Amino acid sequence: MIYFDHNATTPLDERVLDAMLPFLKDFYGNPSALYRHGRLARSAIDTAREQLAALCGATAAQVIFTSGGTEANNMALTCLPDQAGLAISTVEHPSITESAQALSRLAHPLTLIGVDNQGLIQSEAIEQLCLKPPHLVSIMLANNETGVIQDIARYAESLKAASIQVHTDAVQALGKIPLSFKQLHVDFMSLSSHKIYGPKGCGALVVADISATKPLFFGGGQERGLRAGTENVAAIVGFGKAAELALTECSARNAHLLYLRHLLEQALCTVPSVTILAQTAERLPNTLMFCVAGVDGEMLLMRLDQKGVAVSSGSACASAGGKPSPVLLAMGLSEQQAKSALRISLGKSNTEAEILKFIDLLKGLLSPV
Ligand SMILES: Cc1ncc(COP(=O)(O)O)c(C=O)c1O
Repeated sequence: MIYFDHNATTPLDERVLDAMLPFLKDFYGNPSALYRHGRLARSAIDTAREQLAALCGATAAQVIFTSGGTEANNMALTCLPDQAGLAISTVEHPSITESAQALSRLAHPLTLIGVDNQGLIQSEAIEQLCLKPPHLVSIMLANNETGVIQDIARYAESLKAASIQVHTDAVQALGKIPLSFKQLHVDFMSLSSHKIYGPKGCGALVVADISATKPLFFGGGQERGLRAGTENVAAIVGFGKAAELALTECSARNAHLLYLRHLLEQALCTVPSVTILAQTAERLPNTLMFCVAGVDGEMLLMRLDQKGVAVSSGSACASAGGKPSPVLLAMGLSEQQAKSALRISLGKSNTEAEILKFIDLLKGLLSPV
């Protein structure tokens, strides 16, 4: 199989599996237990916290492990005080949009921040927000569908000056671009393990001020009382190892991904019916989304699947519903254009030969019979 869907999930790195196995087989102690087996598990979690903090430019004390990016996003928004206002962009992941909609039904006023046709938020939109400040603004760092990167550090500077708290969903950015929680100057940042060759079901919320953070779950006081529940030790260890590898390999991975994406983009530009989306915006090195005029993206996805190629026609959730991607509609595409979109998200093991084979297959599928 040619796997081009790394923004949906990545395969587990063998080295991550090796780091996890002892915690599934031998070191099964509860990290809250005081005896040696428990202390070993606790110490492994502490190491993972350090590894993740190093990758995302935070301190270990700022990292709260969660069950994934979805939980981290929900937790960040739940920190809103009663009836306080919230603003989110129109290109957020469903774990933000659905959570924000739920909060708006609980009397939190919700403002939507629009994007231009490249998927970018304009400075004027940020200035507007500062005039009637919501309590919290949530803007993703990199979009899962288009790969578009927002200038969060610049927005955060203006928003913080207006005493607005800032959350960024950095799930897709982690490990793909240099990332510094400190330099972004945000209050909350969400991360996920399975996008960086770590296990599924593990993530983190990075928080600037622990005292301004509210738990979603109550119980045994784990994660400094912010995320109750016995820790998923093996997954946390895997996330830490994946973070360590991403830190040491980031620049080599990116050079490889950029080269492959350039090759893909060049070839796609020669296909007359293809339009690359957000082509002039700064994007993740691994992500490329394009429309094919007059073609149903899901149909094309299924045809590619029959040929052994896995791609996405939008975010996983949107494609399951068969609805046009809200992200693409927010960028001004028509329903028909949005439904003709395909996303290629490359990974560290993809090769030049796979790109060339994909282009051949695509051209074959698009050529009239
Ligand atoms: C931008 C973004 N945020 C959040 C999530 C949710 O992360 P998880 O799958 O770890 O819950 C995803 C997953 O696709 C994502 O792409």
